[in-house]
This record gives sequence, C-alpha cells and structure tokens, in this order.
Amino acid sequence: VDHESLEAAAREVMSPAAYHYVAGGSDDEITVAENTAAWRRVRLLPHVLNDVSTVSHAATLLGADMTAPVLVAPMATQRLAHDEGEKAMARGAARAGTVMVVSTMATATLEDIAAAAPGGTLWFQFYVHRDRGLSEDLVRRAEAAGYEAVVLTVDVPVLSNRRREAEHHFQLPDGMTVANLDTSLESVEGSGLAEYTNAAFDPGLTPDDIGWIKSIVDLPVVVKGVLRADDAVRATDAGADAVIVSNHGGRQMDGAIASADALPAVVEAVGGNVPVLVDGGIRGGNDVFKALALGASAVLVGRPLYWALAAGGEDGVAGYLEEIHTELARAMALCGVADLSEIDSSLIAS
Ligand code: GLV
Repeated sequence: VDHESLEAAAREVMSPAAYHYVAGGSDDEITVAENTAAWRRVRLLPHVLNDVSTVSHAATLLGADMTAPVLVAPMATQRLAHDEGEKAMARGAARAGTVMVVSTMATATLEDIAAAAPGGTLWFQFYVHRDRGLSEDLVRRAEAAGYEAVVLTVDVPVLSNRRREAEHHFQLPDGMTVANLDTSLESVEGSGLAEYTNAAFDPGLTPDDIGWIKSIVDLPVVVKGVLRADDAVRATDAGADAVIVSNHGGRQMDGAIASADALPAVVEAVGGNVPVLVDGGIRGGNDVFKALALGASAVLVGRPLYWALAAGGEDGVAGYLEEIHTELARAMALCGVADLSEIDSSLIAS
C-alpha cells in the first residue's frame, strides 16, 4: 500500500486540526516513529519448495469469521475524515469481510453505526467513565445493538500531552458530536479531548473491571493497551478473552516500546491461553505477516484506514483492506506458507 500518497490525499480534504489530531502522537512522537520502524526491522526467513498454489488467509476470532486477520482499529471522531464517518467505515469493513472496532468516541451513535452496516461484525471499544451508570449503559447498548465483543482500552488513565492537538485547539466543528456521550469536546484552552478525558474517564481501572463488564453483558472482553507480559497475565487471570498489544498508536506514553517489540513476550506469557492481537505501525501486508509470525492471532490497522476513509469513503476503506489482503496472500506465497496455521516463529530470522 502506498501509505504516503494516501496520507497526502487525506490531508488535502481534512482540516489542519483534524489532520494533526490523527497524524500526531504524544510529546516528541518517539513511539509513533518507533512503531513503524520496528516492523521494518523484522527480518524473515522464507521457505521455498512448499506448494503455495492455493493460499488461504481466512480467520476466525472470538466467533467472528474474517477474510483475513486484519481488523479496523478503534478510532475516535471519524466524521472528521468523511461526512459519513463511522457508517462508511463500517460498510467498508463489512464489504472487505472484517471486524470494525467502533470507538466510544464515535461521531454517530453505536446503534446508527450498526444499522448502517447490517451484514458486518462490530466490536465495541469501551472507555470506562467515572460515571459507572453511564458506563454500564454504554456496554448494555452495545450488546443490545448486536456488537459481539467489548474492547476495554486500559492505557488512558489520563490523556497524554499532545502538542499538535493543543496547538490546534482540538474540538469538534459545529454540528458534530461524540454522539454516544453528547459532547462536542469543546476546548477551553488546549485540546478539548484532553479536557473531556481527564474529567470523565476513570483513572482507577484494575483487573477487577474485566469481571465487572462480564457481570453486565454476556460478551467476550478484549483488553487493549497491554505492553508487558505481567500485565497480560493479570488481565487473562481476571477473565480477559483476548489481549491487544498496543501503545495506542504512539498516542499515550511517549517513549513506550514499539508494539512489534513488545509482542513476543506477551505471546510467550499468554498466547497459549488467549488470542494476542497487536496494533501500531502496521502499514501493509508484509507487516501483517511479520506480526503473525511473531505470534499474533490478528492485527488492527488504524491511521491508514482513517486516511482511506478521508480520501475515498466506504470504497476507500474496502479498497485499502482488499489491498492488504492481496499483500498478505503474496507474502504467504513468498514465504512458502499456504495457510495461516503454518505461520510460526521459525519464519523470523533472529
Ligand atoms: C483517542 O483515543 C485518541 O487516541 O485520540
């Protein structure tokens, strides 16, 4: 995928504030850069003389069938990219046969997004608010609307320092709201998102909150934002059905390890028990292949899909995902594996 052209095309149609909100990260953006660099550092040890006349990358994860193990990462406020926002993203994901993780901070209600893509599979990304009544209501609504998993984000006890957001006084334009929460993220002086988050999100999450969610809804809980093996064990001991190795796309603790570099230890600790997913810096099918070889069950793609949505709406999203699938199939053939089950760590040159 020509990621740079895609980002440039998106930048042309987005406001500077919206563009910098998505492109940016925290503090010096060390981790943003590291995420992509880390995948590029991984070296492969391909097989030859294996029959790859037919290559299959179909996958099943927590009951969801997918064309390939590449999900749409949760991303806030997608109407900043395109009028149809999350609805177009959901339709594009459904067309490409994959799961979209819908953000709590979406610019359409979770019910409207579900109604926009009836054939698709949606998971609900959940930010626990200090107001536990409101929080309970959110996950109940997601279950009622047919969402098939709760993705609990655990790496935002406070919002990081994001210079680009503050500089552009990030807030939503007139007529746009975080629909589930009925706020426009109005900025008093810096980033409206930081002001909202720091007032509203619960900084007191512990592993017990996994059980709390399971006491409210009958859905698998995926814990997103884990970088350490010990935390992955705490999460799965508390009932997590999957974990996502993530540093929030370099948007939270700057200087945190790249997700590619954090992945192997988490896989080693809990990969035998639950699926381990990874996001951050994945830009094409070769990166997906490397993640699977390092032990991930699936990956999530973020910013590139935001750019694809901005530049091409639903078609852009479906087209990007289909291109990644083609690239993954090609990487599999070039590495001598015909099926996802044959991808293992022996393909990594260490
Ligand atoms: C929201 O989760 C963000 O990273 O901006």
